[in-house]
Amino acid sequence: MAPMSPTDLVARYDGRAPRYTSYPTAPHFTGDVGPSVYARWLAALPEAAALSLYLHVPFCDRLCFYCGCNTGVVRLESSHRAYARRLIAEMKRVASAIGRRARVRHIHWGGGTPTTLPADALVAVMGRLRALFDVAPDAEVAIEIDPTSLASDRLAALREMGVTRISLGVQDLEPAVQQAIGRSQSYAQTQTCADLARALGVHSLNLDLIYGLPLQTRESVERTARRALDLGADRVAVFGYAHVPWMKKHQAVIPEASLPGAVERFEQQQAIHRVLTEEGGYVAIGLDHYAKRGDAMAQAAACGRLRRGFQGYTTDDAPVLVGFGASAISQLPQGYVQNAPTAAGYGALIDAGGLASVRGIALTAEDRLRRDVIEQLMCALQVDLVGTAAAYGADPAPLIANAQGLARFAEDGLAQFDGRCVAVSEPGRPFLRSVAALFDVYLAESSETPRHARAI
Ligand SMILES: C[S@@+](CC[C@H](N)C(=O)[O-])C[C@H]1O[C@@H](n2cnc3c(N)ncnc32)[C@H](O)[C@@H]1O
Ligand code: SF4
Repeated sequence: MAPMSPTDLVARYDGRAPRYTSYPTAPHFTGDVGPSVYARWLAALPEAAALSLYLHVPFCDRLCFYCGCNTGVVRLESSHRAYARRLIAEMKRVASAIGRRARVRHIHWGGGTPTTLPADALVAVMGRLRALFDVAPDAEVAIEIDPTSLASDRLAALREMGVTRISLGVQDLEPAVQQAIGRSQSYAQTQTCADLARALGVHSLNLDLIYGLPLQTRESVERTARRALDLGADRVAVFGYAHVPWMKKHQAVIPEASLPGAVERFEQQQAIHRVLTEEGGYVAIGLDHYAKRGDAMAQAAACGRLRRGFQGYTTDDAPVLVGFGASAISQLPQGYVQNAPTAAGYGALIDAGGLASVRGIALTAEDRLRRDVIEQLMCALQVDLVGTAAAYGADPAPLIANAQGLARFAEDGLAQFDGRCVAVSEPGRPFLRSVAALFDVYLAESSETPRHARAI
């Protein structure tokens, strides 16, 4: 079979699909799950369950035009300090609802830009966290860093916090693109930050790149990817620009007409993929990650232990994720819970003396099964529908019926289905979200489909 042209592939498969960092996805959360349900769920956590903790800091020094994260420009130190105090208050309440000093294996600081918090506040939050939770000596402590706004006093704080993994936002290294996205960041700045991270002794350095931005071309993203290779990161995340101005109003600064079209996006993604895998020797992981061969993520993917959660791909196999801060989502055995999305809303709920949860969803038996199917696809590019259904004591017939939707993918050599197992091929990797969407009953049932970003 002759390979399809990018134009044909994109014409057939460029739908809009969720990123599946959860199932059901966040647009299906409702107000039925609030603080009292969350407290009950926390109290019922099995004693043996290890936790993964996520701390969200919704502040930045500036707002990049493309940003889709939950953040805002807040430079007032008093606001930063008040937020850190609220994080500590929330941690105390969660720990008390759990009723013991729960074991913790992974901690992730995300945002926004967590290092907007003053150095002593970062250290204080981490200190309280270690007092309230039993953090394993070899726990991973990860933090997202903006290389353009890392004040020098934060380095000592990062060391004191015991940070083991640093993720640097790079996005694109071409000045014209940077100007079009409101983010000037010289190569030297990025390089210095990468060197500082290494000097701190972190054992894993990640970079984030984006394609599909204004003024990017196949050649320009190749140049960025090649220069990124020189930074020697252990992992690289390559995101397709999600242009969702109906949700992120500030993105309207980026005119739709300045964005690469669907075919160009696909070719940019393929170009970065080639540079990272063929020239850089990285292993492609799931939908959008790349890891050096010896890296823990490459190893986890090779032996089927890779997981997908709200921070994307992870080696963290802790069964429970507890999120702190505005908009943070927790994943408990009973379901998902999300905190109030804005810093103000979160602050008001914490100051009122309770937990800050406002939405969520209790998982049904079918949700758990479908979540597992979708996670296996997103992580391993394959799933045994019959075996997975059997593990949940469920009838595989509805899943097998969904898999009939793979016929067109099979015709184009993107995926195979033998009546039991689904296997997505290497050329099918960019279309993983669309394959996963076949098993998403919420997407199929909703008459008003939430508007997602492009699948490619
Ligand atoms: C919280 S930020 C990273 C830390 C820090 N704030 C920075 O920008 O360097 C997380 C990452 O999300 C990605 N991102 C943000 N907005 C995006 C969008 N609209 N589409 C795709 N990726 C996006 C960027 O790659 C960014 O580095
Ligand atoms: S990309 Fe990072 S620095 Fe830029 S606005 Fe978003 S969270 Fe802030």
